[in-house]
Amino acid sequence: MPSHQSAKEEIKRAADIVQVIGQFVQLKKAGKNFVGLCPFHAEKDPSFTVSSDRQMFHCFGCKKGGDIFAFGIDYHGLTFPEALKDLAERYNVQITDKFSAIEEKKKSKLRETLLKINEAATLYFQQALSKTAIENPAADYLKKRAISNEIISEFRLGYAPDKWHGIVDYLRRHKIDLERAVQAGLIIPKKGGGYYDRFRGRIMFPILNLRGQVVGFGGRVLDDSLPKYLNTPETPVFHKGEFPYGLHASFKAIRQKGIAVIVEGYMDLLALRRHGLDEVVATLGTALTDQHIRKIKGYAKEAVVVFDPDEAGRNAALRSLPLFLNEGLPARAVVLPDGHDPDSFVNTKGLPEFLKLLDSASSMFDFFLAQKLTQDDSDIEGKVHALKEILPVLSQLRNAAQRSLYVGRLSERIGIKEEVVLSELKSFKQNRSGDAPERGLKDRLKGRKLDKKIGDIQLLNLLVHHPKTITGLMDSGCRDLLSDDTASKIVEVIFDKYRREGQFSPENIEDTLDNDDVRIRLREVMVADSIYSDQEVKQAVEEIREKARQKRLSDSVAEVKGDPEALNKMLLSKRRAQISY
Ligand code: CTP
Ligand code: MN
Repeated sequence: MPSHQSAKEEIKRAADIVQVIGQFVQLKKAGKNFVGLCPFHAEKDPSFTVSSDRQMFHCFGCKKGGDIFAFGIDYHGLTFPEALKDLAERYNVQITDKFSAIEEKKKSKLRETLLKINEAATLYFQQALSKTAIENPAADYLKKRAISNEIISEFRLGYAPDKWHGIVDYLRRHKIDLERAVQAGLIIPKKGGGYYDRFRGRIMFPILNLRGQVVGFGGRVLDDSLPKYLNTPETPVFHKGEFPYGLHASFKAIRQKGIAVIVEGYMDLLALRRHGLDEVVATLGTALTDQHIRKIKGYAKEAVVVFDPDEAGRNAALRSLPLFLNEGLPARAVVLPDGHDPDSFVNTKGLPEFLKLLDSASSMFDFFLAQKLTQDDSDIEGKVHALKEILPVLSQLRNAAQRSLYVGRLSERIGIKEEVVLSELKSFKQNRSGDAPERGLKDRLKGRKLDKKIGDIQLLNLLVHHPKTITGLMDSGCRDLLSDDTASKIVEVIFDKYRREGQFSPENIEDTLDNDDVRIRLREVMVADSIYSDQEVKQAVEEIREKARQKRLSDSVAEVKGDPEALNKMLLSKRRAQISY
């Protein structure tokens, strides 16, 4: 079997990073690269860049980046061996697993085990749900709630029988390490020894990640007892709020329609799916998180959030506005009529009515305004209070046109003059610390492009994009021209590699770098366009050599200053050198 290095190479050859990342992030072509909204930090303008030529990604905002494996590690929270294995399976590359560090191996091994146990448990719950009515009241319950068999099998619903040792016995029979099953959150150790089932007498909803693996469960009672839902606790494979429920099944429809409908509960999602609305995900009762939104915006152009009509639902809507603004995902909000959740609504009124409701959804901002201003905004206190609450949100809008639109709306609604709102906004922004406006991606990529004076950027760009210049620059002393250590380090590494191997290609250099700043800077150079055209390269090399020569000269002048004899000697030798050069 090939070594892990060669497996890595083979995968890199077989896989296309644009395609792999494109499954999770909406990418569009921008020059020779692809760009999209970064899945790793909040942003409204795309800084996340994927280079097909280099087979690497880099975010100019948060500086995360690397190759196809680094993406798996950062996005899916995998260890390197897991990322390697994942891609190897997908691209039919044979790998051995002798290479990874003990700790990483342990971690992947544990997670693999827990996922296997979850899979076994899912099968157990599914079997239990397929049994006859006496043993299995759950099938009846689901029927009553209008959940079809198709939905049951698509979402792998199951039933945890009302027993203390149901899954405990099942797992034992299947020779599964019960301590691991404890870690998976399925069983609980008893004080006096032994174990008992965590989920008893509940409908089981497996929670699948984007890779289709069962990471945890939610379980609902069949009656009114409490707690209504019981969820898998935090485990090495299950983190609440990491991604919304149902995305593994909905992402295609979401991408196709461009819209993600966001609801709260399992039952809401399943009911909508049964009625034929596929582009839906659920937050499972927790507040929307930035992680949710980042995953969703990998597929959706817009979100419509359906909130329950209670106080909690309203508050959730209000809290979600800044998240959506920050993440750059346009969102609308709709509140259901009193007494309804999406499940009850669609089951009593049908999908067309629900779609009408979605159509009527107003932008999240208008919704926010309407909510904030319902209370006692008639008196001055109330108005000022409302304004103070809205300013932080307004100030987050980077798009000036959008901002002025909202300022206008706000002033109209609240009855405070537009100038006043604007000046309040201005002073609010000034009071916030260190929040300098970011430059757009284009500027950042190309801003210095036309200015072709020789500096760090130009030199690095030249060496990386035109490696044939290395021979001409290696002995020029050009490193002395660099203004910072990071750039200098990169040039050193490039020259070193060239000296040792007689060639240099930037592709595999990342592994040999031990400093994050250096890695980041190098990636930025790699995914950027070449500053020089092929015709300009030669001239650029000449200019750099000349500049380096002058720098050497003036440095030595500085050194010998105050020693006229030494100075004269030095100038003479420089002149000679110049003549022979
Ligand atoms: N939830 C939870 N734990 C609870 C209550 C709720 O995790 N004790 C989560 C569940 O994911 C649930 C969602 O919050 O689906 C919404 O809660 P709720 O509206 O109470 O439940 P419904 O989904 O409407 O469930 P049902 O229709 O079966 O009553
Ligand atoms: Mn409900």
